Amino acid sequence: MTIPAQTSGATLTKDAAPGETLLKVTGLQKHFPIKKGLLQRQVGAVRAVDGIDFEVRSGETLGVVGESGCGKSTMGRLITRLLEPTAGKVEFQGKDITHLGVGGMRPLRRDVQMIFQDPYSSLNPRHTIGTIVSAPFKLQGVQPEGGVKKEVQRLLSVVGLNPEHYNRYPHEFSGGQRQRIGIARALALNPKLVVADEPVSALDVSIQAQVVNLLDDLQSELGLTYVIIAHDLSVVRHVSDRIAVMYLGKIMELADRDLLYKTPMHPYTKALMSAVPIPDPARKSAKSERILLKGDVPSPIAPPSGCRFHTRCWKATQICTTTEPPLKELRPGQQVACHHPENFEDQAPQDVVLLTAAKEAAELVSEEALAESAATSAAVAAEVAEVAEAQSTDAESTEAESSEGESTETEPTEAESTETESTESSDEEPPAKGK
Ligand SMILES: Nc1ncnc2c1ncn2[C@@H]1O[C@H](COP(=O)(O)OP(=O)(O)O)[C@@H](O)[C@H]1O
Ligand code: SF4
Ligand SMILES: [Mg+2]
Repeated sequence: MTIPAQTSGATLTKDAAPGETLLKVTGLQKHFPIKKGLLQRQVGAVRAVDGIDFEVRSGETLGVVGESGCGKSTMGRLITRLLEPTAGKVEFQGKDITHLGVGGMRPLRRDVQMIFQDPYSSLNPRHTIGTIVSAPFKLQGVQPEGGVKKEVQRLLSVVGLNPEHYNRYPHEFSGGQRQRIGIARALALNPKLVVADEPVSALDVSIQAQVVNLLDDLQSELGLTYVIIAHDLSVVRHVSDRIAVMYLGKIMELADRDLLYKTPMHPYTKALMSAVPIPDPARKSAKSERILLKGDVPSPIAPPSGCRFHTRCWKATQICTTTEPPLKELRPGQQVACHHPENFEDQAPQDVVLLTAAKEAAELVSEEALAESAATSAAVAAEVAEVAEAQSTDAESTEAESSEGESTETEPTEAESTETESTESSDEEPPAKGK
């Protein structure tokens, strides 16, 4: 697909180098107050987003997944500043934008755009496609070279629509085409960051891949940075560089895509993955490890104490009910919030007795899967102890030994070998996507 050059009149200079932090979120919270009675007194709050930290690097795609109601859309609206945060900080290109007013946000509206989930309700049915896609130019007072109409027609062809359909109305288009219109509108001002909230959930499965591929092509051609929100891992799998897994307003795991798929550490990530049919013959055995999540996500009005996943987790012990595990980088490129992570050394090895609820959930997980999980964690723990010992005796040889240990004990994978190599520079450039 060839995308014509952007007209200079409609663009802003791209000044964040690939791999540099474009967006940084610290301690972000959004609590929606619940009010009751004549006096509308606040009686509680929906803790939709409850303290999250992450960054988005220029040129990357950060996938965000989690079950419905876990705060993904709220997070998307907070980072695009369509919602005012209750607490925390949002920085865009190093600038604190957390509390910017309408005027302060105006220049930023060009840089940060959102694509919405529902291509039916997000386009005004009374406006023509031309009017819809040209709206950003009018709102921002931007006059593209060659005029608005020419630029809108160019954008329509960029997203694979017929530029001649400029005067048609949304109802004349299919769902997939409407989402392309939404994408054209989002791209109009040549943004730096595009937040796509479940961009394909409302579309037929056959159309989903086309729209995801379009987003992917546009990213390579235009150097866009994406945050793509989805309710399961299948959509974000092929397009993300890193993936954040959310549960009840918190990030449970944030990892490089390959690490997340090959060695998920959070029990919730593992459960989400086993809910996705994986057409990979090498993972046929995954059937026997199928983990079913029992019950609904608890209410975000009163999330469970300690680890908020403990009411549904098959590995939960006493400490999980009392102490919230911090999101910690356990391995370069993989942050996890769990006391008893998968594929890694146990963080609370003294606490071994499963909670009753965990035992019930464990019944759904095959004995073999549980045994395998325990064996992997034990193997990693032994390896970590070995490395620690080596470190204390010979600091010089530590790096080499840890790389070797890593790739022999826990199944050598491409991702792991790159990970060990990049130990020192994991905060610099994201790995290239292997699509
Ligand atoms: N404007 C609002 N007022 C009150 N509660 C809200 C509002 N928007 C979202 N919520 C609640 O916040 C929680 C997270 O919602 P949302 O961010 O839409 O989740 P997701 O996109 O992951 O499905 C839900 O419990 C939802 O009901
Ligand atoms: S093992 Fe504990 S800390 Fe880890 S996800 Fe389960 S409940 Fe949470
Ligand atoms: Mg949503």
